[in-house]
Amino acid sequence: EKGRYDHYMHKEIHEQPRALEQTLQGRLGDGVALDDLADETLDGVERVAFVACGTSYHASLYGARLLIERGVPASAHLASEYVTAPPPARAGTIVVGVTQSGETADTLAALREAHSQDQPTLAVTNTVGSTAARECDDALFIRAGPEIGVAATKTFSSQVATLALLAEQLAAREGTGRGRPFRRALAALPDGVRTVVESDDVRSVARQFRDSDAYFFVGRGTGHPVALEGALKLKEITYEHAEGFAAGELKHGPLALVTERTPVFAIDTGHNTEKVASNAEEIRSRGGPVVAVGPADSPLGDRADAHLPVPDTDPALTGVLANVHLQLLAYHVAAELDRPIDKPRNLAKSVTVE
Ligand code: F6R
Repeated sequence: EKGRYDHYMHKEIHEQPRALEQTLQGRLGDGVALDDLADETLDGVERVAFVACGTSYHASLYGARLLIERGVPASAHLASEYVTAPPPARAGTIVVGVTQSGETADTLAALREAHSQDQPTLAVTNTVGSTAARECDDALFIRAGPEIGVAATKTFSSQVATLALLAEQLAAREGTGRGRPFRRALAALPDGVRTVVESDDVRSVARQFRDSDAYFFVGRGTGHPVALEGALKLKEITYEHAEGFAAGELKHGPLALVTERTPVFAIDTGHNTEKVASNAEEIRSRGGPVVAVGPADSPLGDRADAHLPVPDTDPALTGVLANVHLQLLAYHVAAELDRPIDKPRNLAKSVTVE
């Protein structure tokens, strides 16, 4: 039940510290322990191909970057595109379907395609007993608890945390894992999320920008999937136009859209920060308001109209914390505009047709 919250989405945003604790429970110690996986599941795995849709695709893009940072080749595919043009099967590739519900038709179709090519498959899902969990060779559960709001929130954070565990586990075999400092940062992630959720710094920003023409989100590295996710959340529950871009792409087209009525949320995840800061200047010199989302000492802070601070953590996890601000932004803008937050028009929680 919603308890003291007006909407499931708000409740689920606030549940994230607890959801993350459950995700990480028993999986961090002297190393990473993913006990749900059979011993042989990761044997011979040299490469990871993620297939997913929507928010789960953004978590997959994030996970792919965590693997690549550790020297493990990885790619993320929109499930519908994977089916349209399947990449050539290669020995050593595991196809990982990331799906909260475990029932998304496009993702199931991509996993079936991989299976038909004799590629090993793994489901990363929130739902025990789901079709994805049953049909894949193995399943890894994100353990976020039930999510009722149509907009995925806590499951994104738990998906990224699970993929971070998987990345560490795969990299550890090559000796390229980040080891104890990263495991400590992961263990502290629930507290970092709690700080962001409780501060609710974004409420006044939402009020300030509620009548904008459009909302843009830019980032680099893990900040890029967070930009895509921030825009998806905002468009689905506010019905306002929002787009996320790789910050480097701004000057290749989107900058033409920037006016004083289009706030740009610039996400600093420590990847090429100086370049994100110069992107922020390009935006401001064209009259666009900039909201920095990043560490308290981010150089973006001084060059922005507002700053949503993110607690200190390992840079690989900064994006998870930044994303929580953006979830709250979407929530508060939608509340200001009196939208039906838990049941946005035209959308269903689980999309079971291709
Ligand atoms: C967005 C959202 C959708 C889902 C997508 C995949 O808030 O909820 O974009 O992420 O439909 O769903 P799952 O993860 O169940 O496969």
